[in-house]
Amino acid sequence: MKLLVTGGAGFIGANFVRLTLDTRPDVTVTVLDLLTYAGNSASLPDDPRVTLVKGDIADPEMVDTLVAEADAVVHFAAESHNDNSLDDPWPFVHTNLLGTYYLIEAARRRQTRFHHVSTDEVYGDLELDDPAKFTPETPYNPSSPYSSTKAGSDLLVRAWVRSFGLEATISNCSNNYGPAQHVEKFIPRQITNLIDGVKPKLYGAGLNVRDWIHVDDHNRAVWAILEGGRSGETYLIGADGEVDNKTVVETILELMGHEPTDYEHVADRPGHDLRYAIDATKLREELGWEPMYGDFRSGLAATVDWYHENEAWWRAQKLETELKYQRLGR
Ligand code: NAD
Ligand code: DAU
Repeated sequence: MKLLVTGGAGFIGANFVRLTLDTRPDVTVTVLDLLTYAGNSASLPDDPRVTLVKGDIADPEMVDTLVAEADAVVHFAAESHNDNSLDDPWPFVHTNLLGTYYLIEAARRRQTRFHHVSTDEVYGDLELDDPAKFTPETPYNPSSPYSSTKAGSDLLVRAWVRSFGLEATISNCSNNYGPAQHVEKFIPRQITNLIDGVKPKLYGAGLNVRDWIHVDDHNRAVWAILEGGRSGETYLIGADGEVDNKTVVETILELMGHEPTDYEHVADRPGHDLRYAIDATKLREELGWEPMYGDFRSGLAATVDWYHENEAWWRAQKLETELKYQRLGR
């Protein structure tokens, strides 16, 4: 099987390529990635079964050529960071909306199986004391330029299934953690700050809740959907990992040998979503998926170790990232 993986040099995509090589000996992978600030070819395994093509998913000719050569497309490429989308929404419209459009047009022409990787943020947020979780029936209500462009891309895929018979599935996953995540994101930012002797930065009061899942559990679910999912269906991916941001920071501090109170509060993110929570019943019951990383604390400890051991991977990103946050006042 020949797989086209867009965004395969990013955090989740690169972990997906590694998992694929480890578990599917009959699969070869072409990665299409623009290698933006978030992409890193060093995240990809050096393996003859992987080919990296540097290019834009919003380049229709390149996309058509690569889709024509593939048996299936797994579409991870995106502008993925909320804070950046509040600073400059345009790259989010370009990549998340236009890029997805060109990919599904090519998949329609070539009649290629398509899996669209999306986020729980398309559903907006939940109150802290609301027992409800997101389900596939929850109405879309995105808050940020990032989540609204992801919501738009989901709707394009849904429409292409209904109008043109595109064979496609969609997954909406909660917050991922694990190795090789860009240091702009919450958990790696705090780990690398502590390595640099800088206090972790908590937005606002730190009461916001995220539903953490290990990146390998996300990617195992993507494979389950690719192999067993029904076309036109949406599957929510989550591992019942709700934790508030303050607790995450306190746990990282403890794991790294600091006082749990040794962080600082910084300005809150505008429009900051309060809480995300996933009900993954459909994925579990229909496709038999179960998470393998049950214990967030030990998954976090392994992630801390990864950043200690792979400074050469993240060092070049760090200064630029912190300069950006300084400019944003966060
Ligand atoms: P990331 O920012 O780490 O990686 C994105 C990758 O896409 C990078 O390698 C980048 O170079 C590439 N890219 C960006 N624009 C491109 C373009 N125009 N053409 C080709 N490549 C381009 O993102 P991530 O965290 O790995 O997220 C991957 C996908 O998973 C995204 O679609 C995101 O919405 C979704 N998702 C992420 C999370 C999370 O917690 N990180 C959770 C749920 C869903
Ligand atoms: O829910 C899935 C989404 O999770 C994905 O679709 C996005 O691509 C991914 O970036 C992530 O979005 P968040 O905005 O939730 O992730 P982020 O890592 O930016 O922030 C997590 C929480 O931590 C959020 O409540 C903001 C807060 N935060 C973030 C940073 C960078 C801080 O308190 N301090 C920080 O320094």
